Amino acid sequence: MSYSTSLPAGYTALITGASAGLGAEFARQMAPEAGTLVLVARRLERLDVLKEELTLTNPKLRVYTFVHDLNDPAAVEALIAELKTKEIAVDFLVNNAGLGDLGTFETSEWSRVQSMLRVNIEALTALTHALLPGMIQRKSGAVLNVASTAGFLPLPTFAVYAATKAYVNSFTEALAIEVRPHGVTITALCPGPVATEFGDVATRANSGRKFGPVKALYVSAEQVVREALRGVKKGKVRVIPGFQVRWAALLLLETVPTPVKRLCLNLASRINAKPQG
Ligand SMILES: NC(=O)c1ccc[n+]([C@@H]2O[C@H](COP(=O)([O-])OP(=O)(O)OC[C@H]3O[C@@H](n4cnc5c(N)ncnc54)[C@H](OP(=O)(O)O)[C@@H]3O)[C@@H](O)[C@H]2O)c1
Repeated sequence: MSYSTSLPAGYTALITGASAGLGAEFARQMAPEAGTLVLVARRLERLDVLKEELTLTNPKLRVYTFVHDLNDPAAVEALIAELKTKEIAVDFLVNNAGLGDLGTFETSEWSRVQSMLRVNIEALTALTHALLPGMIQRKSGAVLNVASTAGFLPLPTFAVYAATKAYVNSFTEALAIEVRPHGVTITALCPGPVATEFGDVATRANSGRKFGPVKALYVSAEQVVREALRGVKKGKVRVIPGFQVRWAALLLLETVPTPVKRLCLNLASRINAKPQG
């Protein structure tokens, strides 16, 4: 389903998790058309290097680098306050920051689980809550929530991550309908595997488990972002980048009955339980 979207020329965009992977690629692809980019992450040096690169190739672009740990609710509030103080009206919010944790729930560290809940869900919801009213008032704007195809299925050994992304998918679909009359769009981006730092961050030290999705399902960060931005411009509610991922998702979601999905997940989890490499 798609609705019309309207981003003003030279829009102001805020990208969370801009220091690496998809977030940095969003900044690169948005830089030629945006007026202002607000880049948020914890690693300032990475953001500064990116800022230099972007302003070199786009001299008219204004770039802010804000360091905030989205795992800390007070830091999320501080980010929202900073936007107000600096009178930055965000037209395009890209809720991209996120992390996973690969391994059984029983053996997970609570701090890691909490980080996923806070960054993947709470910060995304808080930023949307803070910035959406301004967009509705101006009758234009877009929110892009980076979910995952992992949000389509309960995933043993990735249980909390998949559940956080299921939240993002559900939240986005519902909100898209709420904001439809106001000239604002909300899109869930659901990539399959992408070669970024995500896999390393999700891998626990000494666990013997490796992040290793089927190679044929990998889509480049450039393509994921290109398709995402095209989807936002078309006002799409959900974007699944990559032909092969789209078909795999469609096949799995629309044609496989739940008991068969459970059986497959059980088998996969037994295979994965064997220590690897
Ligand atoms: N790569 C994949 O296979 C894949 C597939 C589907 C969906 N996704 C989703 O895509 C999004 C981007 O991930 P990626 O693949 O680009 O991973 P990545 O390379 O690990 O980048 C993650 C970004 O999130 C930021 N971040 C993490 N924790 C943060 C925190 N507490 N506060 C502020 N920023 C934080 C990181 O910045 P700092 O470390 O500098 O803070 C980094 O810029 C995530 O939501 C992920 O779930 C990824």
